[in-house]
Amino acid sequence: MKILLIGADGQLGTDFCKVSRAAGDALVPVTIEQLDICVDEQVSRTLAEHKPEVVINTAAYHRVEECEKNSALAFEVNATAAMKLAQACNESGAILVHFSTDYVFGGYPSSTPFVETDRPAPQSVYATSKLAGEYLIAANTDRYFILRVCGLYGTAGSLGKGTNFVETMLKKAAAGDAIRVVDDQILTPTYTVDLARAIRTLVPTERFGLYHLSSEGQCSWYELTRHIFKSAGVEANLQPCKTSDFYSPVKRPAYSVLSKAKYRSLGLSIPTWQDALPRYLQERAARKAA
Ligand SMILES: NC(=O)c1ccc[n+]([C@@H]2O[C@H](COP(=O)([O-])OP(=O)(O)OC[C@H]3O[C@@H](n4cnc5c(N)ncnc54)[C@H](OP(=O)(O)O)[C@@H]3O)[C@@H](O)[C@H]2O)c1
Repeated sequence: MKILLIGADGQLGTDFCKVSRAAGDALVPVTIEQLDICVDEQVSRTLAEHKPEVVINTAAYHRVEECEKNSALAFEVNATAAMKLAQACNESGAILVHFSTDYVFGGYPSSTPFVETDRPAPQSVYATSKLAGEYLIAANTDRYFILRVCGLYGTAGSLGKGTNFVETMLKKAAAGDAIRVVDDQILTPTYTVDLARAIRTLVPTERFGLYHLSSEGQCSWYELTRHIFKSAGVEANLQPCKTSDFYSPVKRPAYSVLSKAKYRSLGLSIPTWQDALPRYLQERAARKAA
């Protein structure tokens, strides 16, 4: 497949590069320096130059607390630019693969995994802008995959570019900090290598539409942190706490587990988060040693 990968040096982008190259794709990876999705001319020029069969857009403005203050930028990147990409893909005949978030849920309580047909209820500017992006893509092309994903971590977040939750916890433990983590927000942490493989197997099916795609299983952030320290062999001063113990300008879902039933109905599967975490820690250690 000839694939244009946007946001190629992000967490998911970095791992998709590896998976795609191993699959023998003709991959064109671009970073924001080469292609800013908010610059129409760069989008049209890059599509015309490379004529990809598939465009994978991992670019987003997803610093959720900043989004509350910069709603115009959040909508520009996460909604308007996504719409224009969909229009450009529709004109060129390319398949668009785009990412949304578990945060589109959260406005009403649940304790069972959300399916694609559940009514979204975003509670933040970030989540609302991502939901707007979903709707605008679906309104502008038929050949799309919108994948709602959750709790991503990948080694690009451990190597100096940005960070992720696992890295934040390991740094706090190394510093000897007392660590308090909420046990009343339930999610599914997802290793970007597993997500990249899942995307690479989904796209050739051409069974277009909206999918929920995260690791299998669920846990609280506290439970995840306990597993991180146990798997990494790290002693840490870790205590559970409640969401109400911290002030945040952003409302986060108490339960945002995504059902993979639709993805599995295609005969596809993705590993559990408990299976993924030790593999991430191993890969991280190997890359830091290299
Ligand atoms: N991370 C999570 O836990 C999580 C959870 C749910 C959904 N998602 C969604 O999953 C997708 C991938 O997330 P990720 O964690 O891989 O993100 P990431 O590591 O931040 O990667 C995104 C990449 O896109 C680039 N980018 C940002 N704005 C751009 C623009 N205007 N034009 C072109 N490139 C741009 C970023 O560059 P710079 O770093 O230089 O800005 C970065 O390289 C996003 O759509 C995100 O909303 C993520």
